[in-house]
Amino acid sequence: MSQKNIESHLVEKRVFKPSKDFSKKARIGSLAEYKTLWEESIKKPDKFWAREAAELVWQQKWTKVLEWKEPFAKWFVGGKLNVSENCLDRHLGTPRQNKAAILWEGEPGEKRALTYQQLHREVCKFANVLKSHHVKKGERVIIYMPMVPEASIAMLACARIGATHSVVFGGFSAEAIRDRIADSQATVVITADGGYRRGSVVGLKKNVDDALKGGDPSVPRVRSVIVFQRTGQPVQMEPNRDHWWHEEMAKADGNCPAIPLDSEHPLFILYTSGSTGQPKGILHTTGGYLMGAYITCKYVFDMRDEDVYWCTADIGWVTGHSYMVYGPLANGATTLMYEGAPNWPENDRFWKIIEDYRVTIFYTAPTAIRSFIRWGDQWVKKHDLSSLRLLGSVGEPINPEAWMWYHHTIGGGRCPIVDTWWQTETGAIMITPLPGATPTRPGSATLPFFGVDAAIVDEAGNEVGPNVSGKLVIRKPWPSMLRNIHGDRARYRKTYWSEVKGCYFAGDGARRDKDGNFWIVGRIDDVLNVAGHRIGTSELEGALVSHPVVAEAAVVGRPDELKGQAVVCFVTLKQDVTATDQLRDDLKKHVRHVIGPVATPDEIRFADALPKTRSGKIMRRLLKQVACGAVVTGDTTTLEDLSILAKLAGKED
Ligand code: PRX
Repeated sequence: MSQKNIESHLVEKRVFKPSKDFSKKARIGSLAEYKTLWEESIKKPDKFWAREAAELVWQQKWTKVLEWKEPFAKWFVGGKLNVSENCLDRHLGTPRQNKAAILWEGEPGEKRALTYQQLHREVCKFANVLKSHHVKKGERVIIYMPMVPEASIAMLACARIGATHSVVFGGFSAEAIRDRIADSQATVVITADGGYRRGSVVGLKKNVDDALKGGDPSVPRVRSVIVFQRTGQPVQMEPNRDHWWHEEMAKADGNCPAIPLDSEHPLFILYTSGSTGQPKGILHTTGGYLMGAYITCKYVFDMRDEDVYWCTADIGWVTGHSYMVYGPLANGATTLMYEGAPNWPENDRFWKIIEDYRVTIFYTAPTAIRSFIRWGDQWVKKHDLSSLRLLGSVGEPINPEAWMWYHHTIGGGRCPIVDTWWQTETGAIMITPLPGATPTRPGSATLPFFGVDAAIVDEAGNEVGPNVSGKLVIRKPWPSMLRNIHGDRARYRKTYWSEVKGCYFAGDGARRDKDGNFWIVGRIDDVLNVAGHRIGTSELEGALVSHPVVAEAAVVGRPDELKGQAVVCFVTLKQDVTATDQLRDDLKKHVRHVIGPVATPDEIRFADALPKTRSGKIMRRLLKQVACGAVVTGDTTTLEDLSILAKLAGKED
């Protein structure tokens, strides 16, 4: 976050109270009510969670709410349930069965609606397809799909038979898919021929083919690839391995009971960047995760049967999992899914969708909001957005200017904004206003959700006072917390539970004002947040040095008005290699190829050497300052060669 934004945070004094009308109808209608429930959730968690969990469908009730052997938690111990049953079967035989579960619009404009009954049938059929490909309980299945209902169907079908899904974002490369298959040891891949993005066709199957090309012994043999036909583009189908979705579905039976699964059965693994080179497989389990997704939709979005709810996240990110699929469906809501870009064919596509479907709850990211601001109000004004009643923000700190624009221009001044702080690891929203209860402040995620014991601590791990910045930690386990990094308990303990004694450390810096509101500053580890996407600097550096001409690379973030952070790479080249603009482009392309388009560097600066301490550590703090064009300040006494700094300051032309 830029210095200007931090400053505007510190002076931000505006407070927006929920309207009387909103509070009257909301589940939690006052701050006092929130506080009472929050106290209960912290002091008597067993009582609080037992009451909330009773709203889920259990095939066998749990015997104990929590078993905590730090840092390993088990929630709803002994309970058996099925997430797919909770999202689908429970609504059948009720007035919800014929309402839309999923409303979908493709980028070229096609529209589809699936009722709960229809979605249930599709999921049962696809679960039978998986069974016919011998997918067993606990086996890992990779899902690499565009934003089509079949992606949700595939996830729910896995959940129905106890297979553990791992969704890979469609913007990731073949190499990223291969790494994830290798780490998760997945044996089945579900994909599509392609998808639409900004008017062009993205080839997904081709990336899967490249990922599965033989040779790498760490990649297990994938026995089946199931291909949904979305675009009709030509693809190669490998005999015996590749199968068309529609042909398999035509053979499948529509009955498939949801099997009882242990509360702690692995529901999914989702890979995310950390401060080391290798993405981490964040493991979420069944009972606690569903509880978190369900209860946050219920209270934070105050979801109702009449709502048309739209979360604009991609299904490949955790927001898509919890707030496009599992949370809304467990609440019996109507969830809208849009395949493509917000500016296709024109800059008003989102506003047109809100008008067409009478969307009531809209959940998006600050980076998108900043783009909308840049595109101009005229695009918004063309549409009737009066159906909206609640707005949400997620993914990065929202600057007060963007918050105010969202409030006035999109929300017409009448919609509460829930700025929701959470992470892939937390599974569900952790710090957030409750729309009928919490006075909101532009730029603050406000107060902890039920069961969340959040605090700001200093380097020594002691809680700091009001308005002092520090590390954001969570002091107690919560139901939807990650259970492990797939296959690596030691790394899990070290990454999350060793930095601050007895606490989960989130990687973010924040401060709390005198009223207890949290103001998130952003990552304080080596992770960038580029347009709401989490990218590890060491992953980027690894990608750069995998290019044959690169000797060394260091990557830092630079504040960017639109994307939050931009990727700036400092690169030294091997001897006798000449730095050219062509090489700069080649390196950008190379990173795109290795990680995916989301990681494309914004700037590459060639250098003769990188600034290092005498012990050989790259001085990132200095590089950040250089990247921002700031005068380098602070301690440079350990710097090996001060003249390097002057050379690095030369920008990419
Ligand atoms: O830095 C925080 C930022 O996004 C990070 C988590 O990224 P990811 O696991 O990809 O999940 C994104 C969607 C939940 C956090 O460590 N972040 C997320 N939401 C907010 C935020 N920063 C400030 N305010 C938020 N509302």
